[in-house]
Amino acid sequence: MSTVLQTKLLTKRYGDFVANTDINLSVAKGTIHGVIGPNGAGKTTFFNCLAGTVPTTSGQVLLEGRDITTLAQHKRPLAGLSRSFQVTSLFSDLSVFENLRLAHQALSPGKGFVFWHAAHETGSTAEAVDMVLARTSLIGERDTLVSELSHGQQRVLEVGVALMSKPRVLLLDEPTSGMGIDDIPQMITLLSDLKKECTIVLIEHNVGLVTEVCDAVTVLQGGKVISEGTPHEVSNDEKVKIAYLGEDL
Ligand SMILES: Nc1ncnc2c1ncn2[C@@H]1O[C@H](COP(=O)(O)OP(=O)(O)O)[C@@H](O)[C@H]1O
Ligand SMILES: [Mg+2]
Repeated sequence: MSTVLQTKLLTKRYGDFVANTDINLSVAKGTIHGVIGPNGAGKTTFFNCLAGTVPTTSGQVLLEGRDITTLAQHKRPLAGLSRSFQVTSLFSDLSVFENLRLAHQALSPGKGFVFWHAAHETGSTAEAVDMVLARTSLIGERDTLVSELSHGQQRVLEVGVALMSKPRVLLLDEPTSGMGIDDIPQMITLLSDLKKECTIVLIEHNVGLVTEVCDAVTVLQGGKVISEGTPHEVSNDEKVKIAYLGEDL
C-alpha cells in the first residue's frame, strides 16, 4: 500500500516546551488512520503542524512524496490536504448552502469570501455544494441556518466544508467532540463512506470510536509516539493502557 502522508522526525517546540518530539508517521492511501492519546498528548499540535496552522520546529511533512513542511496553510487544500477544526468554525448566521459555497469560493483565488454573487451565478459552485450535501446527512437542510442545526449536524457540516476542496487527504480533529451519543453513528457512517474517496487522518480522544472506524492507529503521549498498529493491537498494548489510566478508554 502506498504512503500518502508522512512525517519524518517532526518536532514542535513552544519556547522550552516540546509539544511534539521526533514524530514519524506513515499514513497508507485509502485508510482511516487514527492519532489518539490522552489530553495534552500533543495531538492538536501535531495536527496543526500537518495542516500548516503552526510552523514545525524541525522535521518534515510529506504529502504524496512532496515536501510541504513550509507550504502555507491556505495552499495545502489546493495541494490535496484539507482540515477541519476541533472548535466550530462555521458562519452561524448563514445557511448550510452558504457555508459550503463560501468554502468552495475560498479555493478560487480572487473569489474568496465574496458574499454578493447570487447562487445561480456560480453554477459549478452550486453543483459542488450539492455533491457534498448528497454525501452527508444534511441533504434536507440545504437552506437551514447553521444556528438552527443540532451540534451533531454542525460537526457533519464542518466535515462537508473540508470536503469542498475534494481533498485526497482529510485531517479531522475530534470530529465528534461535544456530540451527543445519538449523533455519533451519523459521523461513523460518514467517515466510513468517505474512506472510499480519500484518506483520513482522524485525531481523537475517544478510543472506542477509533476502534470502530480506523485501520491503523498511532498513540501519542507526552508528545511522543508510544504505540502503533491496528486498533486491536494498540488497545491491548500495556503502554497505552497505562497512558490512559484514570481516563475512559
Ligand atoms: N500555543 C501554545 N503555546 C504553548 N504551549 C502549547 C501551545 N499549544 C499547545 N501547547 C501545549 O502543548 C501540549 C499539547 O497540547 P495539545 O496539542 O493541544 O494536546 P492534545 O490535543 O493532545 O490534548 C499541552 O501541554 C499544551 O499546553
Ligand atoms: Mg486536542
